[in-house]
Amino acid sequence: MGDNNNSPPGSPKEADHDSDANQIVKDDSSLETIVRKFQDSMSVGKRHAFWETQPVGQFKDLGDVSLAEGPIEPPTPLSEVKQEPYNLPTQYEWTTCDLDSEDTCTEVYNLLKNNYVEDDENMFRFNYSKEFLRWALHPPGYFRSWHIGVRAKTNKKLVAFITGVPARIRVRDEIVKMAEINFLCVHKKLRSKRLAPVMIKEVTRRVHLENIWQAAYTAGVVLPTPITTCQYWHRSLNPKKLIDVGFSRLGARMTMSRTIKLYKLPDSPATPGFRKMELRDVPAVTRLLRNYLSQFVVAPDFDENDVEHWLLPEENVVDSYLVESPETHEVTDFCSFYTLPSSILGNQTYSILKAAYSYYNVSTKTPLLQLMNDALIVAKKKDFDVFNALDVMQNESFLKELKFGPGDGQLHYYLYNYRMRNALKPSELGLVLL
Ligand SMILES: CC(C)(COP(=O)(O)OP(=O)(O)OC[C@H]1O[C@@H](n2cnc3c(N)ncnc32)[C@H](O)[C@@H]1OP(=O)(O)O)[C@@H](O)C(=O)NCCC(=O)NCCS
Repeated sequence: MGDNNNSPPGSPKEADHDSDANQIVKDDSSLETIVRKFQDSMSVGKRHAFWETQPVGQFKDLGDVSLAEGPIEPPTPLSEVKQEPYNLPTQYEWTTCDLDSEDTCTEVYNLLKNNYVEDDENMFRFNYSKEFLRWALHPPGYFRSWHIGVRAKTNKKLVAFITGVPARIRVRDEIVKMAEINFLCVHKKLRSKRLAPVMIKEVTRRVHLENIWQAAYTAGVVLPTPITTCQYWHRSLNPKKLIDVGFSRLGARMTMSRTIKLYKLPDSPATPGFRKMELRDVPAVTRLLRNYLSQFVVAPDFDENDVEHWLLPEENVVDSYLVESPETHEVTDFCSFYTLPSSILGNQTYSILKAAYSYYNVSTKTPLLQLMNDALIVAKKKDFDVFNALDVMQNESFLKELKFGPGDGQLHYYLYNYRMRNALKPSELGLVLL
């Protein structure tokens, strides 16, 4: 995996993990050299001039169980938080982005559409819709001041962006107020100028001003220090298109028609009582979800307002379905996915890959496998090309059986100013960030 890889739009190709390891042993045989080269190849031996100055788990402390779990630095009095924004290079200025303004939302949309995350081979780039951005950035209690842009002073063009939204995240039995940091983006022409650290420091300052001292974020790159590392899995819904655009490849000894048949799904969901979630379901879904998420080491602490915002279906943004028992009318199971298309770069026939991303799923009566097969069926009906899922929560239990294939990108999860004693298994994580 290349160091600039930021994963998700990635295609389900087998990564070649062997070559580096083989190389190490050929070059030198002293144990120390082998260890150092292994660490370099795993990125943990790299210097991080910025991240080494931040209150995050440091690589040198890996495995040191004497360090307590919890905040790394205590909160400082609000009067001691820096009152003025950090300095930008003189040609640039800070701007707070109001996503309710159609013009500003379009500017953010275009910056991300042209400069945000690509796969390793630069074939696909995330194309978050404006409705999605408004949804992702306007949860209950959001702060407009956390939607931060950078403009060029001369022409006022938006050239960089970073956001936070507030969340309550439970870590074991502590509920911690956090910022979820997302949409860090620097225009392609301004890369490698150390603008990202200034963006991160500025969002951190504005989070501190709201008396919040922890954050959660994900990245495709290895930084100090992941709390867990997850893998994306992909389930073809429209295999012909996925193969035509280079997202996937025809398997060995497979024909196109056999492949299409392999991924074919029934026309309608199999579970009696499977239906779209409605506003009246918010209390029942909240109970179901809270109970389910309590088993994971790190998970959001959702109340009814959060569930209404994050899980009530919104066209082209988020889809949620549940199983209401035809006999008792009890809500017993729940599944959801969000809509995140990617631009297909340089294909003559297709310009957009329509992808669904598994979000939160809860099974109590319907087997998870059957529930997720129904999710695939409705996603196919809605014309998605692919259904993606991380190996978080209990997802491993259905991925292989439902014909998901492993992707080539990894997604690392991080906490800011909160130390975990040990890394988690992906199955211990109950958090999906957008
Ligand atoms: C991510 C991005 C903003 C980084 O900007 P850049 O110009 O490449 O890097 P800069 O010179 O400004 O800063 C480099 C520092 O930022 C850190 N950094 C890079 N990507 C990061 C990320 N995704 N999250 C947190 N820190 C990151 C680097 O590790 C480095 O710090 P270090 O020296 O301590 O290791 C830019 O590459 C970009 O917009 N990429 C496409 C979108 C994307 O991948 N966004 C992140 C999604 S998680």
